[in-house]
Amino acid sequence: MIIPLDRHSQKPIYLQIRDYLSRLIRSGKIPAGQKLPSIRVLSESIQVNKLTVIEAYSLLEADGLIYARQGSGYFVNRITSDFTLRSHFAPAQKVIISEGGGSFSEQYIASLQAQQQSDIIDFSSGFPHNSSSNNLQRIAKRAMTKATDTLFKYDFPQGQLLLRQLIAQMLVPQGLEVSPEEIIITTGSEQALSLAMQYYLQPSDWVIVETPTYHGALGILENLGAKVIGIPMTAEGMNLELLEQYLQSHRPKLIYTISTLQNPTGITTSQVHRQKLLALAQEYECLILEDNAYEGLNFEPVPAPIKALDRHNLVTYISTFSKTLMPGLRVGYMVVTGEHYQHLVKQKLLNDLHVSTVSQAIVSEFLGSGNYRRHLSRLRTSNLHSRNVMLQALEHYFPDAIAWTIPKGGLFLWTHLPDHLPIQAICQEALSHNILVANGAVFFPGQGYPAMRLNFCHTPEDIEQGIEILGRLIKNYLTPSFQSFSFKSPELNTAS
Ligand SMILES: Cc1ncc(COP(=O)(O)O)c(C=O)c1O
Repeated sequence: MIIPLDRHSQKPIYLQIRDYLSRLIRSGKIPAGQKLPSIRVLSESIQVNKLTVIEAYSLLEADGLIYARQGSGYFVNRITSDFTLRSHFAPAQKVIISEGGGSFSEQYIASLQAQQQSDIIDFSSGFPHNSSSNNLQRIAKRAMTKATDTLFKYDFPQGQLLLRQLIAQMLVPQGLEVSPEEIIITTGSEQALSLAMQYYLQPSDWVIVETPTYHGALGILENLGAKVIGIPMTAEGMNLELLEQYLQSHRPKLIYTISTLQNPTGITTSQVHRQKLLALAQEYECLILEDNAYEGLNFEPVPAPIKALDRHNLVTYISTFSKTLMPGLRVGYMVVTGEHYQHLVKQKLLNDLHVSTVSQAIVSEFLGSGNYRRHLSRLRTSNLHSRNVMLQALEHYFPDAIAWTIPKGGLFLWTHLPDHLPIQAICQEALSHNILVANGAVFFPGQGYPAMRLNFCHTPEDIEQGIEILGRLIKNYLTPSFQSFSFKSPELNTAS
């Protein structure tokens, strides 16, 4: 194979190879199922280093265009990403002002209990069901052998230097250049959210959130006695006109945003949206808490985080390894610049001294050995396939009245139901058929619209079966014979 390369171009060679092959695959010139030249053959024929070809193939794999077959090489995937049919996410929604309420902890526990039910198809959970554990066991063993001297001691509150260095390196290709001295390792990103919110906020402070948003953050805000302004999400992200209006009228202290693969909608904001959001925060002297919990799970390139644009230490950035490796490791981190850093390290110390050294060693081994990159690449390919299976099932089984988002990564999509549908009853009935979904209500700090968050990381069989049943249930509620009667609806709490 001959690939025209411009060796004087500013565009790196691996990206030129990726883009060239990507065009051929997308246009069907290299058909699905065809084997690509081996790494050795291609590197020799176009006279580049093998690593350059590996880099290009990894990106194509991450884009879902090719897949690796153990021992046989790389093959072209079937492309099923033209889902333009019902991606019209445009719910009519008002700003929600909330001065308390919500019940995250009860919801969380009830959700875990529901997940225990045997034979359940769990579309509700907030982690990938297809993450490989074997690899993890092997890497954990290696980490335990290597890190013996650090495992048996108390450690620094900000976390192990090695892990902070590896995270700093990992963030560079994402456009975020920070020093290890600006990173704090936390017990999951939930703790990072909690530490930051406790530090930045006083009771009764106003805080802006996207609606819908991650209910775990709403729980912390409620616990702190903060007052919440929920700004509606559009298909492009938080509605910035409304944001400005409320920045002016309420002078909030903090904006909480999930800029990439938002939970629960899966929406990623553009570079322009990020710049405008930061400019508004700067103008109204408001801090930003940027939660990027789904970092690395994007099927397509995403803009650099808002934190990368921040020149005034307004943005605190948060992420986690829960969504990519294992929630049980409880390793998250925060990037904090300027004077806030030492204060937050102290908060961390007073909370739980430091994150488990065992967990930190495992994540370091994953990152340092290159296994994390390979693992992410496989996870993305698998997630993309699952997302496509779910989109096809939704097209097939869901009635026309339902709209959904088409996330370019992450773990979930978000379905929006007509306003008159009793979402609680639908979720309850689904559970009686062993289908667990996250009732959208939990993601609003007040009255939202009927919606469900669906985790698509499942086997094609489970997706097909689960979506067929859900589609049937929803259709029943849409038939004219359906009378609006009052449901006995015990609290259904299905999101974690
Ligand atoms: C947006 C977001 N932030 C933070 C978290 C907390 O995750 P963890 O504490 O496991 O890192 C979650 C978990 O679902 C999430 O979705």
